[in-house]
Order: sequence, then C-alpha cells, then structure tokens
Amino acid sequence: MKNTIVVGAQWGDEGKGKLVDVLAEKSDLVVRFNGGGNAGHTVMHAGETYKFHYMPSGMLHKKTCILGTGVVINPKDLIAEIESFTATGHEPDLKISARAHVIFPHHQMIDAKGGGKIGTTGRGIGPTYSQKASRINLRILDIIADDAVARIKEALKDVREMLIADALFSADEFAAYCESVSSEYAEYGKNFKPFVTDTEDLVRVATIAGKSVLFEGAQGTLLDLNYGTYPFVTSSATLAAAAFVGGGAIPGVPIRILGITKAYTTRVGEGPFPTELDGDAAVNLREAGHEYGATTGRPRRVGHLDLYALRYAVRISGIQELAMTKIDTLAQVDNVKVCTAYKIDGKRIDYFPADAPTLEKVEPVYTDIEPIQALTKEEWIGLQGASKDQLPPSIKNYIKFIEDFVEIPITILSHGPERNETIVF
Ligand code: IMP
Repeated sequence: MKNTIVVGAQWGDEGKGKLVDVLAEKSDLVVRFNGGGNAGHTVMHAGETYKFHYMPSGMLHKKTCILGTGVVINPKDLIAEIESFTATGHEPDLKISARAHVIFPHHQMIDAKGGGKIGTTGRGIGPTYSQKASRINLRILDIIADDAVARIKEALKDVREMLIADALFSADEFAAYCESVSSEYAEYGKNFKPFVTDTEDLVRVATIAGKSVLFEGAQGTLLDLNYGTYPFVTSSATLAAAAFVGGGAIPGVPIRILGITKAYTTRVGEGPFPTELDGDAAVNLREAGHEYGATTGRPRRVGHLDLYALRYAVRISGIQELAMTKIDTLAQVDNVKVCTAYKIDGKRIDYFPADAPTLEKVEPVYTDIEPIQALTKEEWIGLQGASKDQLPPSIKNYIKFIEDFVEIPITILSHGPERNETIVF
C-alpha cells in the first residue's frame, strides 16, 4: 500500500482518530507530524473508549508509532498517557523524535494568560512553537542529555526577563522554578531515553523497504498557521504538506492524501464560522453529535456543512479523496443545508477570504438538501461492502452533491464511532 497522509479538512475534530485507527491496520508505521496535547483523538474499540492526546491512534493495532519532529511534547502528559495505556494491558511501541520540541510549565502559563482571545486549548502550544521559532527552546534531545539539568537552566535564562515582566513569576519564584523544573524534566528525560531516535530515518528506511507509512495530522486545514483563518488558528502547519516537514514523508514518493470531513461543520474556540447555527438548531445538532471537545470538554460550535470552505481546504492541502464522518448524526436533524458560495455586500466572491473580519461578515449561500434517511445500526452494518449506488437515495445524493462540488471522491463513509462502523467504497 502507498504511504498515506490523513488530515482534517475543517477546523479539527473531524474524526481523524477513528479513521487513523481503521487505516492503521494495514500500515506498518503511524507518524504524527504536528501539534501537541491540543489534539484529542477518541477511538472506540471492543466496547472500550481510548482518548489519545499524543500517541497516534495506530497504538491499538500494536504498530510502531512515531511522534515526529514537528510535534511539541509535554513530557509529563505523555508519560501519563503511556502509563494509562500500559495499564489497560497494551504495550506501546513508541518512537519519539530527538528533534521534537519540549513544552514546559511556563509555556502553559503564557498560554493561559494570552490564549483567551483565540480560545486556545491552554496546553502551551503557541508559546512553545513561538520560542522554537525564536531559537530559544529546548528539544527532546536536550532533556535526555547527561547534562540536561544544566541545559534547562541555561535555556531558562533566555525567558527569565519576559516571564518576570509579565508577572508570571517574581525573581525568587523564578529561581525556585529553575531548580525544580530542571530536575523534574531531566527525570522525564531519563524515562524517555529508550523511545528517542532519529524518527525521520525510520520513516525513510521503512519507505525504501516498501513498508507503508500512515501520517496522522492533528487539528484541521482551516486551523493551519499559514492558510487557516488567521489569527484564529493553531501554531503549527496542519496541511498535508506538514507531513513532509514534521514527519519525514519523502517528496517524490507516491502518497495518498486523505482529508477527513464531518457531514456538517464544527469548530472549537474563537474565530469566523460562516455557517454556524444558533438556538435550538445548534443545541439539537450538538447533542445529536455529542459535540464536546475531547481535550477541553468545551461545547463545540456547530453548523451546516460549509462546502465553500471545504473546497478551499481540499485545494490548499492537496487532498485527493475524502472520508466523511458522522453521516448518522446528520440523519437526526432537520433542515439540512450546505453552503455553496459566500457573498459580501450582496455579491458572490470567488476566493476564500484571508482576512478574518472579512470572513466574519460573509453571507453564506445555501442549497437545501433532502432529509438524510435515518438507519438503524443493523441497517448500516448491512451496507458494509455496498457501492455508493446501493446506499439509500438521500445519502447517495448527499455524497454526490459534495463530490461534484469539491471535485474529489468520497471514498470512506463513517456512520458511528466503532471501527466496524465504516464503509469503504
Ligand atoms: P491551540 O492549538 O491550543 O493554540 O489553540 C488554537 C486554536 O486551535 C483554538 O481555537 C483551539 O480551539 C483550536 N484547536 C487546537 N487543537 C484543536 C483540535 O485538536 N481540535 C479542534 N480545535 C483545536
């Protein structure tokens, strides 16, 4: 099988965790290439619910799972995740890039203070990436080094003044923090040592050997730092292209790019959302889809499927095919519509606005969709192996409408959280 990149085609939470879990079965390696503990993947299997923030969902298939160079890691949280996974009787085969950057408590403190405008997850993601770009942050290789304590203390000198000026620490508190955090993180480093390696080389060797590598993106294309709805975005690249930079995907090697979209749209945190619903319609859709953030528990904002935004995401991320999730949820609500164009001052536009205030004021143009037929779990399972033509007409027509608009096929339909609630066309 070809290498595959899986990315979200909306604002995150599209169901990538479930799809990666399904696809991991036929993969040899699963690689995360961006983000950190801001991601939340929920995977249900054999009656158990697993929530991962760091570990790729391929863990459940006992595959080699990699946290690549583009990922930012809070060692304390990752160790807790490994321990709770091990406690359920699993043995994680995890490799961590020596070059991945480390999230420290002060990153979280900065995020907690300044992240409110964007509605961040508060996990310290933005401050870690920004200090990475400023070349003052530490990497996993630093905290596993023999002189980790000295390296950490030295690096903290670069942020001392800023943290004190921002009233996050007094001078005395900062001195105490340096002592405690340097020994705490050096201890994490000792725990990590066996997992740390040159992960990009693992990917290269596996690819040359004809093994199949699955690259798992976190967040979604519309949260991309460069191409998303800036500034209401995350601080890493979330496009498929990020798998090359942060995960070791090799340019020139054939690769399948699969985007994941819900049958409707959701968003967590602040920022423009042209097709957002409010009132009872929002409550009904949120409850039908259990739309609460896996990382923060926040109620997700919900809305109609925004095909105009989805087509932009498909184009910008180079998505070749789509997996659509939660079609079963859409069957539980009335008045299904999709957005097929944006208007500004009454005139249709032919671009996806880069400017957030402009995107805030676009007027979505909707097409009504016939009600999606509700099926029982058994009826859905009976459709395993069905072609698109064999689906109930309302579902077949919905898929066709979307495919025609975004100009790529929907090749996977997910109708429930379990691994077997998936139709592959
Ligand atoms: P940050 O990634 O914590 O800095 O948050 C920046 C924006 O991205 C906020 O709007 C978050 O709600 C959003 N975000 C970050 N990670 C995820 C995710 O995994 N799913 C959905 N939204 C996310």
